[in-house]
Amino acid sequence: MQKVLILDFGGQYDQLIARRVRENNVYCELHPHTMTIDETKRFDPVGIIFTGGPGSVYLEGSPKPDPAVFTLGIPILGICYGCQLLAHFLGGRVTPAQEDTAREYGKTETVFDTSCALFRGLPDKSVTWMSHGDYLSEVPRGFRSAAHSAVCPTAAVCDESRRFYGVQFHPEVNHTEFGRDILRNFLFSICGASGDWTMSDFKDRAIGSIRAKVGSGKALLALSGGVDSSVAAALMSEAIGPQLTCVFVDHGLMRKNEGDEVEAAFSSRSLNFIRVNAADRFLSRLADVTDPEKKRKIIGEEFIRVFEEIGKKIGSVDFLVQGTIYPDVIESGKGEAAVIKSHHNVGGLPANISFKEIIEPLRMLFKDEVRQLGRELKLPEGLVSRQPFPGPGLGIRIIGEITREKLEMLREADAIFREEIAKAGLSQSSSQFFAALTNMRSVGVMGDGRSYDYAVALRSVNTGDYMTADWTRLPYDLLDRVSVRIVNEVRGINRVLYDVTSKPPATVEYE
Ligand code: XMP
Repeated sequence: MQKVLILDFGGQYDQLIARRVRENNVYCELHPHTMTIDETKRFDPVGIIFTGGPGSVYLEGSPKPDPAVFTLGIPILGICYGCQLLAHFLGGRVTPAQEDTAREYGKTETVFDTSCALFRGLPDKSVTWMSHGDYLSEVPRGFRSAAHSAVCPTAAVCDESRRFYGVQFHPEVNHTEFGRDILRNFLFSICGASGDWTMSDFKDRAIGSIRAKVGSGKALLALSGGVDSSVAAALMSEAIGPQLTCVFVDHGLMRKNEGDEVEAAFSSRSLNFIRVNAADRFLSRLADVTDPEKKRKIIGEEFIRVFEEIGKKIGSVDFLVQGTIYPDVIESGKGEAAVIKSHHNVGGLPANISFKEIIEPLRMLFKDEVRQLGRELKLPEGLVSRQPFPGPGLGIRIIGEITREKLEMLREADAIFREEIAKAGLSQSSSQFFAALTNMRSVGVMGDGRSYDYAVALRSVNTGDYMTADWTRLPYDLLDRVSVRIVNEVRGINRVLYDVTSKPPATVEYE
């Protein structure tokens, strides 16, 4: 399998570069810029990409690659700071740009020399996305300038004989009009990549290596019903069948039919599937509790308690399976072993299950690739395209005290909201949407009578990272249909509110 190496110099779009490469069915990995030359040789890439970064190449202590990387005969593409590294190491000059000279930020009209292999087939002028305070004031020896903008004389450089290329702009971001074509030119024309990486291959290879590793051992996986743990479970079951035990703790705070859907998805597979219906014990511990933090804590603690009881029965296993995915790996130490992801984010692992080793079969995949793998493994679409759902579940979508009646109301209202969004074909146009039950009751008229019932809040947000979010501009007629159906079909709710608050200041969830 051909691989591209992305050396990380601390840029903010590093993960995006990796995803753009993989979109072309070319496998790549992001590694710290401190990767040694021997490690690089062992990795055996067909091409190397230097990412951007916040540093200035001329400053002592700014991140630098091992200079031997330029002697390997492997094509290199430097992006932004990465481009400046080429100049710095290969005899050019990088200079701080003054405000009024070559400093650029944002969309910039750029003129390309389309005889350069990187820009072949592109129009000779288009928009690129720039973000730099330094610029190449002298082109390195053996290179020529291959693009310019109104203020920047060298927006790209190339040395075609050594197959070294540098771009001052960011081809990986959408604002660069032909960025994807530029990356494709690098991968296919310059590196000679064949696009040999497919999810079906990944699956076969992963299954082979899981089998080799597990042998006749036993593995345990805590299934939450979320995308990552579901796909990990499906992959593991395909690989080792009954040697895998999956434990699914249903805390009774799942959405409508969700627990049954998770069970159904795994019941036909050959594995040991344990569903623990623990709603009663969760709800009795949550009775009369109104404080959000206390609710979370109780749910977390109870979860561990249930798990520990199962653990006593299971005793010991050889492997513990975690649904860690690539962004977790990158974030937790840039390629180092990921910290153990706490199950459900509610409290950690059962202390009384002993295991020899952790297996993370998805640790090289991005979220959208995990979903693709899930489809490859024939998991139902509802599970594969599931939105994030908090570990404490509906417990933090009911403001105040949690009761069975309230859970029932919320499940119905939430299901109607999701169903109508799906019917309108808008499921993919927002990142996360759900209903939450407020603890406010208000007066209404129903038929000839007066009602005094709960208000449900609808929430739909658009976000990339969930750190900030904007509320979705859902069509009024859709909101109207949802509102009419909820008050008609859900007993106990007489008012429907739509949340038009962004994050910050609000959070996505209500508690
Ligand atoms: P907030 O409410 O913090 O939510 O703006 C951001 C994202 O995180 C999810 N979320 C959680 N996920 N356990 C989880 O596993 C939690 O306790 C939790 N709280 C919030 C939320 O659904 C949203 O996607």
